[in-house]
Amino acid sequence: MKRFSVLALALATSLTATGTLAKGRLNVLCSTDTEWCKLMETTFEKETGIKVSLVRKSSGEAFAQVRAEKRNPKIDIWWGGTGDPHLQAAAEGLTQSYKADASGELLDWASRQAQQADYKTVGIYAGALGFGYNEDLLKKKNLPAPKCWKDLTNPIYKGEIQVANPNSSGTAYTALATVVQLFGEKEGFEYLTDLHKNINQYTKSGSAPIKSAARGETTIGITFMHDMIKQVKKGFPIKVVAPCEGTGYEVGSMSIIKGARNLASAQKWAEFALRPDIQSLSSEVKAYQVPSNKTADVPPEAPRLSDVKLIDYDFATYGSSDVRKRLLKRWDDEIKSLPR
Ligand code: F6P
Repeated sequence: MKRFSVLALALATSLTATGTLAKGRLNVLCSTDTEWCKLMETTFEKETGIKVSLVRKSSGEAFAQVRAEKRNPKIDIWWGGTGDPHLQAAAEGLTQSYKADASGELLDWASRQAQQADYKTVGIYAGALGFGYNEDLLKKKNLPAPKCWKDLTNPIYKGEIQVANPNSSGTAYTALATVVQLFGEKEGFEYLTDLHKNINQYTKSGSAPIKSAARGETTIGITFMHDMIKQVKKGFPIKVVAPCEGTGYEVGSMSIIKGARNLASAQKWAEFALRPDIQSLSSEVKAYQVPSNKTADVPPEAPRLSDVKLIDYDFATYGSSDVRKRLLKRWDDEIKSLPR
């Protein structure tokens, strides 16, 4: 009886979500929103018969896990999340080169990301940073509509703004690097000091602030614009702002982990994730990033990067190990601990 149940358990653990016997395994670390992670997991399992075990973590946390497991990797592929920590992982030799069949079908920003990391990562989507506010709350509180990054430091917004912690969140690191590139490091940190006085909470996940704004728990959230559009599409009164000074953007990325135990399955996922039909599924889960494959459908709701005043975000510098580490430490030392 006991032997039977052990056998039954072993069999059960090798079944895919669709109930078929698994044809292999794959451990995925996923840094997009949960719904998209789930959709990718089930679609891949259904198509390949490979059993996926998926964990969702914000980009900075995911990077920390990959680094901590350097000598004994438990993850095979890291899919999604902002490009800077993926580039840092590539630079630290935590990921391995793989040139997928669809490499030639990618938009410039996605190929550039791959080329500069010697194919140890590749761009899968892009999205611009901004801030959004709850129009009803703003009106109720009689607050003016912010239009620029600098507006957010106005003391009238004390306690009204939410953003993630740049250590855990790639979105918030993009915001930190954007401010430094827009204003210079000295003025950028002065800006963050002033902004800190208006922050009600530093969240773990990057998209949490706009979800809170949608629920009326904060008036303003600093996030990627596609995460704001998702809330608009769900019917919440969120107004999307492209800051007047210009703004940064992400190249959401994917990397195969060095020493991956299920390398063939990881390479299959990499091929799968760059296919236009798979990238075109994103709008089913209200993920409105711009896909990296030239022939994938761009969701009509996706904020067009060409309509936003984008800075020439320096991925090589801000995704480098020393700069990312130094800026995060400086943020911890000089901003996080300040009184509000
Ligand atoms: O899936 C939404 C999203 O904004 C992605 O575009 C982005 O790569 C990721 O979340 C960043 O999440 P976090 O800031 O939590 O690392």
